Amino acid sequence: MEREPRTVIEPFKIKVVEPLPLPSREEREAALEAAGMNLFLVPARQVTFDFLTDSGTAAMSAAQWGAMMAADESYAGSRSFERFEAVVRAITGYPFVIPAHQGRAAERLLFGALLKPGMKVPSNNHFDTTRANIEQSGAEAVDLVVAEGRDPASDRPFKGNIDLERLDRFCADNRGRVPVGLLTITNNTGGGQPASLENIRGAAAVYRRHGVPFILDAARYAENAWFIREREPGQAGRPVRDIAREVFDLADGCMMSAKKDGLSNIGGFIALRGDAWVPAIRNALILTEGFPTYGGLAARDLEAMAVGLEEALHEEYLEYRVAVARYMAEGLARLGVPTVRPTGGHAVYIDAKALLPHIPPERFPGQALVCALYRELGVRACEIGTAMFGPAARMELVRMAFPRRVYTQSHFDRVLEGFEDIVAGKDALRGLRMTYEPPFLRHFTARFAPV
Ligand code: F0G
Repeated sequence: MEREPRTVIEPFKIKVVEPLPLPSREEREAALEAAGMNLFLVPARQVTFDFLTDSGTAAMSAAQWGAMMAADESYAGSRSFERFEAVVRAITGYPFVIPAHQGRAAERLLFGALLKPGMKVPSNNHFDTTRANIEQSGAEAVDLVVAEGRDPASDRPFKGNIDLERLDRFCADNRGRVPVGLLTITNNTGGGQPASLENIRGAAAVYRRHGVPFILDAARYAENAWFIREREPGQAGRPVRDIAREVFDLADGCMMSAKKDGLSNIGGFIALRGDAWVPAIRNALILTEGFPTYGGLAARDLEAMAVGLEEALHEEYLEYRVAVARYMAEGLARLGVPTVRPTGGHAVYIDAKALLPHIPPERFPGQALVCALYRELGVRACEIGTAMFGPAARMELVRMAFPRRVYTQSHFDRVLEGFEDIVAGKDALRGLRMTYEPPFLRHFTARFAPV
């Protein structure tokens, strides 16, 4: 009888390699000091394990590189656009496909066409750029995630769900002021947590009842579909592609950063079921991004997306993909490092407040941990707490987001090994003070010093 394997393996062989930067401890300390203890200001060549983001950092396949060579760079009506459009139509079922150079460009085009001051846009949680683009139009972005989605310790399977009762009330109370409703799958802001098929059905029904068009933020829709298959009663073993298609069938369209589940280094799109908004969006596209058959991209990028969108739905890939974050979270749990539960699809979020209770929020416990991870291990992670949001921060989290198909299990083992030293030395870790505070989006350029 064949044995059920215990190890989830990387479902690829490596054909092209890139040297891993291996700065010495002295070099890391110097880099940290030069960067004012802000990892956004540390050059990538000084970073061994770059977990800053899973966005645009995927390793592309031979099939993607091959397609890029064969791309048709015609200004209008290129063959590469036809191929890209056909793939997006086949996956989503939406006939109108508008390319954009990344997710936030798609957001700006869509919201620019729909929103006016005084309008409101609900979602489970809006990603930062989504919120910013909504607010840029003078409208308000409203988060209606379920209560357990705000509780890092809750082990519920679908913490990305939207609160259907609150959504219903919100739509009733704001009749005529909600030109579009969103749902982010998976919910990045809430820890990469999925929304269930049942919840998506419920959201679609509420939006339909109130006459509100329903648009998905589909950046990580394939990972969301995999979680539905793994966690939702009645969905086990169902082809992920079918699940994803049912999700798209429930909505009126989507916008997507293809830098995530498109396995591309750049790219995005809007796809819509109806044509009502299409002329306004295409006109804005021509003004700022480019002709509607390339949308601010090279045709080779359209090819990379066309192939990447298909590859991200392969089940052996998705099994490996979600195993990465789970493997890291389980390893950290064995060392007593608290993380947001259950593990989402693209990242592990360490609860720095729980790990470093002796550092108060105004001394930036998350940023202190980010600095220790870099100094000790050469890891680049991202603080999501007081350094990013100021005193309004509700949690002190450190996100390690995992690039797709880039690091192997031995890399992750080395990082976990290093965490043993972090845990052993944690009580000696000191807080920080901010020595330079920029006027907005301060985490990108702020500087810190030890207290
Ligand atoms: N929507 C979601 C859910 C995202 O996570 C992101 C980006 C965007 C939209 C914007 O897309 O970067 O292509 O313009 N998230 C990245 C991250 C930046 O690190 O989580 P973009």
